[in-house]
Amino acid sequence: MNKDIDKVLFTNEEIVKRCEELGAQITADYQGKQAPLLVALLRGSVPFLAELIKHIDLDIEYDFMDVTSYQGTQSLGDIKILKDLDTSIIGRPILLVEDIVDTGRTIDSVKELLKNKGASEVKVVTLLDKPSRRAVEVRPDYVGFSVANEFVVGFGMDYNQKYRCLPFVGVLKAECYR
Ligand code: IMP
Repeated sequence: MNKDIDKVLFTNEEIVKRCEELGAQITADYQGKQAPLLVALLRGSVPFLAELIKHIDLDIEYDFMDVTSYQGTQSLGDIKILKDLDTSIIGRPILLVEDIVDTGRTIDSVKELLKNKGASEVKVVTLLDKPSRRAVEVRPDYVGFSVANEFVVGFGMDYNQKYRCLPFVGVLKAECYR
């Protein structure tokens, strides 16, 4: 385990197992419907996207957007588009892939944006959900795990760009924030 991690919340095995379950549920829900375009938000959702797509048995495609303006442990309200989609989404169902939903502002804004661009439907799948931190009324359609109000890192999630490559999700030691 990384020396900066206080405790592991979800092991790699637990995450993979949950991705299998989410993949099966998504596969069943879109049966007989147009397969979704997965839109992954850079950079945190990349490991989750990579695991999840192995378990979705549909004719899916994926693309990336970069919208976050997250600094340290404070979630900023306004989002900036740093990288837009390369794919046309007019009339297509979208499944937005997030690493963690915290205040909900990011997915709320991006959902709105994608609907305005002509998506026929926008659903959200997130590895982690922190419902106690919600500032806007938005609920992800698929949630890997709910977490308490703790700052987590690993499996894509960072603190100042560090710890993204850890294969598990954990809580940082308090001294690492100072
Ligand atoms: P929201 O807009 O407040 O929901 O923030 C969502 C984004 O904030 C996520 O995609 C993460 O990049 C970041 N974030 C929120 N909570 C955490 C955390 O505990 N660890 C790492 N990143 C986080």
